[in-house]
Amino acid sequence: MPTRIAIDGPSGAGKSTLAKRIAANLGFVYVDTGALYRSISLAMLRKNAVSDAEIEQGLDGLEISFRHIDGQQHVFIGEEDVSDLIRTPEVTMNASRVSALPAVRAFLLELQRKIASEQSVVMDGRDIGTVVLPDAEVKIYLTASAGKRAMRRFLEMQEKHISTQTYEEVLADVIRRDQQDMTRETAPLKQAEDAVLADTSELDLSGSEQLLMKIVKEKLGA
Ligand code: DC
Repeated sequence: MPTRIAIDGPSGAGKSTLAKRIAANLGFVYVDTGALYRSISLAMLRKNAVSDAEIEQGLDGLEISFRHIDGQQHVFIGEEDVSDLIRTPEVTMNASRVSALPAVRAFLLELQRKIASEQSVVMDGRDIGTVVLPDAEVKIYLTASAGKRAMRRFLEMQEKHISTQTYEEVLADVIRRDQQDMTRETAPLKQAEDAVLADTSELDLSGSEQLLMKIVKEKLGA
């Protein structure tokens, strides 16, 4: 029986970096569910699908999948590797919009559950502990202050040369996305009742990793 570790929380809390590390430490597969919503966002921007009805229609025949290349998760639309294309601010903001639609969430739900049923996973997202894997063995709600999260995102984008946004613009986006993700009707971002809260505002990466490994070990009794 595979073991499932769910890590939810707002953008920029360090979910993907930490989930990747935890997965590597445990020999589990890391699953970045945000990449699925981002891929739908990209597909809809390309189709010019803006209204709810257009987006719902646009899901017809859309094929999104994960493939592992050199141990790294890549996301595909059909046969196209879109792993890098889904990281722009435009795709990011639209991902928050499309992810609010019940049809989009239903479209991705089975895929996420199927992946988690086939192997032990560390899955990160917004509703993994509350909706996708309510029976996960470990649930962590990872967060940090909006200012800290925006600064981390800003530095990451600068390093990867993927945006010219100022820190203030990144912070405004972070706050707007938090608001959208937390107030949507379907599967809003919230801490599952049985999730352990991990606040990394005052921790660096290695401190955060230690905290998460401690929580995981306690929960798994390892
Ligand atoms: O984690 P991320 O920044 O890559 O997520 C992109 C968007 O997708 C984010 O605005 C919220 C949405 N999302 C979601 O609604 N549910 C998930 N499980 C993962 C992401």
